[in-house]
Amino acid sequence: MSFGTGKIWMNGSLVDWADAKIHIGAHVVHYGSAVFEGARCYETSRGSACFRLDAHLERLFDSCKIYRMEPPLTYNDMHQAVLQTIRANQYKACYIRPIVYRGYHTLGVNPLPCPVDSAVLLWEWGAYLGQDALTNGVDVCVSSWSRSAPNTFPTLAKSSANYANSTLVKMEAIVEGYSEGIALDTGGYLSEGSGQNLFLVRNDIIYTPPVTAAILPGITRDSILTLAQDLGFKVREEMLPREMLYIADEAFFVGTAVEVTPIKTVDKIAIGNGRRGPITEAIQQAFFDIVTARVEDRHGWLEYVYDGEPREAVAAAKRSARA
Ligand SMILES: Cc1ncc(COP(=O)(O)O)c(C=O)c1O
Repeated sequence: MSFGTGKIWMNGSLVDWADAKIHIGAHVVHYGSAVFEGARCYETSRGSACFRLDAHLERLFDSCKIYRMEPPLTYNDMHQAVLQTIRANQYKACYIRPIVYRGYHTLGVNPLPCPVDSAVLLWEWGAYLGQDALTNGVDVCVSSWSRSAPNTFPTLAKSSANYANSTLVKMEAIVEGYSEGIALDTGGYLSEGSGQNLFLVRNDIIYTPPVTAAILPGITRDSILTLAQDLGFKVREEMLPREMLYIADEAFFVGTAVEVTPIKTVDKIAIGNGRRGPITEAIQQAFFDIVTARVEDRHGWLEYVYDGEPREAVAAAKRSARA
């Protein structure tokens, strides 16, 4: 199966991809009033496993809270909806897109009278910037677009509206011949890519912008901070000036879509020797080892979809403690 086929979960029912429609008058179509998630299910040697689905759904519920959206279903139900949809489509590996959106009622700006609807769609999604990018890295630019200022669009929420900004960053980069753009925050400090968080390495220390630099607090970012510490690296979350990029020994993007992708040039300046650096490679290896269960799941990040593996019981216990 691939993009455009299979079943989509909508407000409690599984419907054919072609029938998963909403009305043109839905609030979300006009005002971007939705929050969503992007997670992955990996094919591992022990079966298909979702990577940190709990953390993604927690962020989804946080996003709902920020936007005053009463989720139409409980955390447990949303969790089950994701697993049910993967099973119904018989995916071994897929990208997971739960979305909570304001539906059809009125088209005033006030969203509160509109229903809050939800859906889960899945598709097969390989390496986001291409397989070659994972080994050889990507050429990127610093965007002329900034991320949103504090107290404008809340960046801790993964809201559809924020992606108007991301699309400007991405289109500019593509038109200029780059794979990606890196946006600064309104103070001129490094923030993140159009759909991924940013890491730098200088003198064996790993740096990443903090949550106060207008970033989405990525689940992959959080995982990489943990894995880097597991590997014994020093890690710093701090505000970083733009020029730290140019003098970095290594730089890489992280995110559910992009996974861990090295950056080889920024604004046509080579990062280090312009190739994937050793620390990036070590982090990448640690990440792929964990998500594909080549090593022990020591942080409890995998949830098996089909097999009733031990982790499923742990996740269930955690969920019922929260419910
Ligand atoms: C703007 C932005 N930043 C960062 C990320 C990385 O977040 P995560 O690792 O949770 O996928 C994403 C991914 O969706 C994103 O869209």
